[in-house]
Amino acid sequence: MVTLSSDKSTIQHVHIDLGERSYTIDIGAGLLDDPGSFARLPKASSAMIVSNTTVAPLYLERLRRSIQAHYAVVQEVLLPDGEAYKTWESLNLIFDALLSRACDRKTVLFALGGGVVGDMTGFAAAAFMRGVPFVQVPTTLLAQVDSSVGGKTAINHPLGKNMIGAFYQPQRVICDLATLDTLPDRELSAGLAEVIKYGPIADLGFLDWIEANMEALRSREPSALAHAVRRSCEIKAEVVGQDERESGLRAILNFGHTFGHAIEAGMGYGAWLHGEAVGCGMVMATRLSARLGLVDQAFLLRVQRLVEAAGLPVRAPVLDEKDNSGRYLSLMRLDKKADAGEIRFVLVDGSGSAVLRGAPDALVAEVIEESCGT
Ligand code: NAD
Ligand code: GLY
Repeated sequence: MVTLSSDKSTIQHVHIDLGERSYTIDIGAGLLDDPGSFARLPKASSAMIVSNTTVAPLYLERLRRSIQAHYAVVQEVLLPDGEAYKTWESLNLIFDALLSRACDRKTVLFALGGGVVGDMTGFAAAAFMRGVPFVQVPTTLLAQVDSSVGGKTAINHPLGKNMIGAFYQPQRVICDLATLDTLPDRELSAGLAEVIKYGPIADLGFLDWIEANMEALRSREPSALAHAVRRSCEIKAEVVGQDERESGLRAILNFGHTFGHAIEAGMGYGAWLHGEAVGCGMVMATRLSARLGLVDQAFLLRVQRLVEAAGLPVRAPVLDEKDNSGRYLSLMRLDKKADAGEIRFVLVDGSGSAVLRGAPDALVAEVIEESCGT
């Protein structure tokens, strides 16, 4: 099925065009072990690698070896692992390390890990001394296809996901596809949710390709993963290049996220993986699109089957035994896309594009109940 020519020695580059904040996403296997991957970064005397207790034993020394020629001092700070730790307390661990170890406003931060480490490191970089350079070295599929690109950084608040953060672009994104070899299957599936996302909202040809290559992706066929990462980054770069700060178009990248964030917050951060919640959320958003007459049942079934084929849940969890849809609705009213209390959903039209619009609460409640039913 896979017809791409990329192999282990191929490096692909996707450019993200944001004027003076432009940068390149490098994609290839083995980049972590190549000092050349980290050349031409801003000059600085020190670097701080931010990682977590799971990823550091696997990759930190390799990253250190590759960057140490560029900095007199390379230090590290390790965060506890998991979405439940995407908090002020963890963020403060980064600031504590930066301040207590003589870092300055040129110190370069390296985010080595998945989306949680990347989002927190980016936020720390945005805030420390009012902004220091940072480099994303994503090691999950989800981070390589989405979170490391585009400059959204944040921590969670108990009342809502990613509620406190900043737009702050990295200097470079270095996606070493070989790091995906150690990713647990459940995390690979979670990353596939964000790959699937790009099809219905932007590229039906890519949706066809994902359907045809799901088996290759799940069995980590290198050229399939390389294509998925590259095409996802290309689509994201195109969208972010037009609307960096989400004044309009960029909202389409949140397909499935309004329902998904409610699942994550409602279940307690970490109970459902972000990608699992987004996968299920995309089915719910497509169901709502169908109820509004934007897509037919066949398209809904197509999205549902693909999410299922990725190994992701398609039935939504019950968040409250007494008032389930009420609980979903109240969580979704906190969504950043809500406008004057009106929830706005990213809905698909079946032609490879998406719209942002509201829907009557009663209809949304029906979709929630239908999605939670057995
Ligand atoms: P994660 O960062 O929690 O990583 C998933 C798990 O895999 C963790 O346990 C991690 O330690 C482990 N891991 C990471 N790399 C590994 C490797 N190579 N081998 C073995 N284990 C590895 O989760 P994620 O799915 O990468 O990211 C989810 C987060 O990203 C959420 O907080 C979400 O809000 C955020 N996100 C942000 C954006 C954005 O635009 N900024 C976009 C999408 C998602
Ligand atoms: N992941 C959504 C965005 O970057 O806008």
